[in-house]
Amino acid sequence: MPDPIIRTAVPEDFAALSAHLDLVFAEAPSEEGQAEFRQWLEFDRTFLADDGGMIVGSAATNTYRQVVPGGATIPVGGLTIVAVRPTHRRSGLLRRLMRHHLEDVRDRHEAAGILYASESSIYGRFGFGAAVPSGEVTIGRAHGAFRREIPAPRGTYRLLELPDAGPVMRTVFAAATAATPGAIVPREQDWVARLTDHPGRREGATPWRVLVYDRDGEPRGYARYRQKDGWGDGGPEGKVMVRELHAVDGEAFAALWRFLLDIDLAVTIEAGSRPVPDPLRQLLADPRRLMEKSSDGVWVRLIDVAAALAARRYRVEGSLVIEVRDDFFEAGGRYRLSGGPDGAVCERTDAAADVSFGVEHLGSVYFGAGSVTRLAWLGLVGGDAAAIRRCDDMFSWPISPANTLHF
Ligand SMILES: CC(C)(COP(=O)(O)OP(=O)(O)OC[C@H]1O[C@@H](n2cnc3c(N)ncnc32)[C@H](O)[C@@H]1OP(=O)(O)O)[C@@H](O)C(=O)NCCC(=O)NCCS
Repeated sequence: MPDPIIRTAVPEDFAALSAHLDLVFAEAPSEEGQAEFRQWLEFDRTFLADDGGMIVGSAATNTYRQVVPGGATIPVGGLTIVAVRPTHRRSGLLRRLMRHHLEDVRDRHEAAGILYASESSIYGRFGFGAAVPSGEVTIGRAHGAFRREIPAPRGTYRLLELPDAGPVMRTVFAAATAATPGAIVPREQDWVARLTDHPGRREGATPWRVLVYDRDGEPRGYARYRQKDGWGDGGPEGKVMVRELHAVDGEAFAALWRFLLDIDLAVTIEAGSRPVPDPLRQLLADPRRLMEKSSDGVWVRLIDVAAALAARRYRVEGSLVIEVRDDFFEAGGRYRLSGGPDGAVCERTDAAADVSFGVEHLGSVYFGAGSVTRLAWLGLVGGDAAAIRRCDDMFSWPISPANTLHF
């Protein structure tokens, strides 16, 4: 039997591709959301493994920009719908699809590939490192009181529904994420998806509600959430489930949380896609009551290392020769980086290295999370103590990376 071929998808593949994804991801087929999903996919960046006319593997790339430390954005390719038919798994199809993805990203002059992983064991071997952690917080309403010195909100609240909330959400989102490393800038079709509320996906909860906080006549923040009712022997046991919360400043952040932590009939408040650690903890009178979980979030695979390193800012001024090891693709080599808070330059060099990274570990610290010192302590980054300290001082960043756009 000849090997499956890898080919670019065409719109006529859509029905078969949807059925393939339902099969691999064990989802019940549904008509709901199909029209948006069709718009959401970039067919010229969707690769299919085709076995005599049957789709047996898929991987697609979304064309994104992502904020880096300092506020610039870099072009990135967002890998999604990675799926291999159960009858064809572990025969090297993912490996072939990954190579296609990375070549596509390189040929389009994007600096990196990014993804959310279904399992954290899969993508390290292809040079991806977990770079933008994603937090989840849970707190009982009974423990939502703020510290006494936190001032009461000075603005006002509005509750909107989708899609009416769209214009306010777009304005706040752009302002609130402009300096957040790791934030992915939504494409138009991502906004369409974000502003659509399919009844079949509510799992017994309310439609999305959008809480907007205004101050001085301007929207300063919003939170998108659902509520689920519940009744126990002692009375109401409702839940508030926050999908995203964006605020342009700390006052708006506190005001949104004050509202969400005190909604009638709710006893539990949960929120996802949170920065790690969540600054909410600093507001609470009884912070231990905030349960925080952290997951790996966005993984980054640097491809144009020089462009990626030159695009971000560094916390302190410094200069380093960084050796990058890349067993799977073409990012390996030595790079001279000189940078600081006002800008950076980076180019390939033959000079001796100060520090040496596997490409996945360089990706993992690229957005300012993680610690180079800890990686060196674990033996995962090489270099003498002074170079490691300099590298840490340069790469760390005061604003935690975060992202709420899933793909
Ligand atoms: C994950 C998946 C895409 C792997 O595809 P595949 O074609 O079987 O993978 P390959 O045969 O190309 O394997 C490549 C390598 O990855 C490893 N690998 C594949 N899936 C893995 C997993 N789930 N966990 C750990 N390692 C995995 C293989 O062992 C192989 O390792 P090696 O290079 O060291 O030999 C496939 O199992 C699948 O579709 N799973 C369900 C959907 C899913 O989780 N998709 C990922 C969405 S992010």
